[in-house]
Amino acid sequence: MTITITSLDAEFGVDITGVDLEKAAYDHGFLVQLRAALDEHRAVRLRDQRISPKTLTTVTEYFGPLLDIRRAGGNALHIPGHPMIKVISNENDPETGRALGDGNNSAQVWHTDSTTWEVPPSHIAFYCRRAPTPAPATRFLDMIKVYASLPEATKERIRTLRVMHHMFPRQIEVDIARNAPSRPVEDRRVGRIHPLVRRHLPTNLPILYLPVRRDSLVVGWTEKDSRALLDELWDHTEASPHRISVPLEPDDVVIWDNAALAHSRDGWPDSEGRTMWHVSAEGEVPTPRYGERAPNPIGLSREEERAAIAPFMQTIPAVESTPVGSAAAAG
Ligand SMILES: [Fe+2]
Repeated sequence: MTITITSLDAEFGVDITGVDLEKAAYDHGFLVQLRAALDEHRAVRLRDQRISPKTLTTVTEYFGPLLDIRRAGGNALHIPGHPMIKVISNENDPETGRALGDGNNSAQVWHTDSTTWEVPPSHIAFYCRRAPTPAPATRFLDMIKVYASLPEATKERIRTLRVMHHMFPRQIEVDIARNAPSRPVEDRRVGRIHPLVRRHLPTNLPILYLPVRRDSLVVGWTEKDSRALLDELWDHTEASPHRISVPLEPDDVVIWDNAALAHSRDGWPDSEGRTMWHVSAEGEVPTPRYGERAPNPIGLSREEERAAIAPFMQTIPAVESTPVGSAAAAG
């Protein structure tokens, strides 16, 4: 198999051609090349592919354990027998009337997927099945380049910060993102804390890792100061030129790095249908790029160790302990 890699855009992203993914998905040598292309170029497109559900999940699973990301409690059809494929669609099954999948046709703001999880997806694969003509654009934004373009004073100011990513249903839809009122501050104090500057493990470069909501809280900061900082960072991000636009057309497979890239999409008319298969692979717990590192305590006395590393240590909150072997423990 001779594959060709060409630039998708001057910013980043590549097209891989000369590949029949239905076969190549089971070729370890190809998967190694695919990972190398993604590590370097962040996004990969393979056009004119005819692949089975099993092949899409096989390719994506090379990057990490697959995640069931289908909307809970819905009646959508998705793909029976393939629970790790979420169908994204605004169409219904013509025979039963059931929704083909989750989602709708609304435009979406810049975001990275599933940041309220402890281990967010590292890689996401889309396989386009149907799309309007012209196909609505999916856009990608290189958050490594966005970080690099920040003023040096800002980089220093945000170096060790952490942010609480809170739950906000349908937060990526443009109308909700712009107009829905904030949740009460006590609700915004619950979620998942991630470093604001995380490390891109394949390249060791810093990524600006933003919560979708500008009203998120910076750990240890006031609500007002948090908002001012996230407005500043999001304004800088939204103005960034380090973006590409990829209209997803039927039989396109696009895989991207969900740590390094944010994504958004255009909406399309109610009368038009678009259906996409979507698979996500679990990545790593976001690693702080510039977090504070405790000194090495090996060789120190207990007292010296305590003095050296205490500021960096965490403490389990006090709980009432039950002695092992007591009647309660024996149950
Ligand atoms: Fe998304």
